[in-house]
Amino acid sequence: MSEQKVLFLEKAQGSFIVSKAPIPKPGPGQLLVSVKASALNPAECLVQDYGLFVEKFPAILGSDIAGDVVEVGEGVEGFSKGDKVFYHGYMGSEMAGYQEYSLTAADLAAKIPPNIDYAQAASLPVAFNTSAIGLLSAQPAGAGLNPTFDLKVNYGGESALVVGGSTSVGQYAIQLFRLLGYSTIITYASARHTDFLKSLGATHVIDRGEIAIGNLAEAVKKIATAPLKIAYNAIGDAECRSACVDSIVEGGQVADVNPMEAKDPGNGKRVFGIFGTPHHPANRDFGVVLCKTLPKLLQDGLIVPNRMEKLPHGFAGVEEGIKRLRTKQVSGIKLFVIPQETA
Ligand SMILES: NC(=O)c1ccc[n+]([C@@H]2O[C@H](COP(=O)([O-])OP(=O)(O)OC[C@H]3O[C@@H](n4cnc5c(N)ncnc54)[C@H](OP(=O)(O)O)[C@@H]3O)[C@@H](O)[C@H]2O)c1
Repeated sequence: MSEQKVLFLEKAQGSFIVSKAPIPKPGPGQLLVSVKASALNPAECLVQDYGLFVEKFPAILGSDIAGDVVEVGEGVEGFSKGDKVFYHGYMGSEMAGYQEYSLTAADLAAKIPPNIDYAQAASLPVAFNTSAIGLLSAQPAGAGLNPTFDLKVNYGGESALVVGGSTSVGQYAIQLFRLLGYSTIITYASARHTDFLKSLGATHVIDRGEIAIGNLAEAVKKIATAPLKIAYNAIGDAECRSACVDSIVEGGQVADVNPMEAKDPGNGKRVFGIFGTPHHPANRDFGVVLCKTLPKLLQDGLIVPNRMEKLPHGFAGVEEGIKRLRTKQVSGIKLFVIPQETA
């Protein structure tokens, strides 16, 4: 078999079309993976609406991938045919997710532990990388809280804030603060997510239905048990960014998911935008560290994957899923498709 089903976005503002394309061959250092689950991301709305993030059309999107290794490229060590893996895809390339077979650099693939299914594994690459690069990796790419991902590092006694705790990214940021030993982890989210976010490690959930974003900093200061040195903006808009800046002390940092707009305010507080991909040259080495560290954390239950919702009809479900992301109809859950369900 040399052909596979793929999902092309024909052009910016265009439609998604299921079509055929050759199955790629793994080059040196690469794996060919039979994709078993591919998850959706809000960035795909921006590709469809404005043509961002890909160089040419038609383009294959999808960056959150889990599947089985079916071929191992020259020089690869540590992986064999049949291994279950997950990895951060690369939109607009043979490493994208909405195809039956996709490539990855072997050192940017992680093994799926036995307690995690393909869908759960596909929730991790983009959202976990974006939280981990933003919080742990060395400055300037991250806040530098734990650049070697040493599990002995501990911030006991300190407080942290995650604005948008119910986002996929925010759920992992909360869990990383828990892993780092933060004593007080405050998050801003809808009240209906309270129990779930507390199960991930939040100590306090501030209801965004009750407290306006403009009053968040005041509410945070009342709860924090130590002056806040770190806040994570998982929403990325200006109001949430201001609330984070107002919540931290001088010398503190705000990690923000919007690298286009997050700028240093020049008031002794550091605000930086996160490029949450290991394909960015500044993040590649840290991306390799994450791939080595994450499987054990998942196996030990120290990091719990997002809750998942399957879209029907395989690749044909992606367009509807992107519409739901664009119109904010996705709440506390991550959407995914199974390529083999494509008609
Ligand atoms: N820089 C990067 O590399 C990078 C990578 C990945 C994602 N991102 C960005 O990060 C953001 C989150 O992505 P995601 O995939 O994690 O999103 P997501 O899970 O689709 O986000 C949906 C959630 O956002 C919550 N929400 C919306 N507005 C909110 C607000 N003002 N305050 C608090 N919560 C709010 C909703 O909560 P309710 O249901 O309670 O309303 C919902 O649960 C997106 O903007 C995305 O583009 C950036």
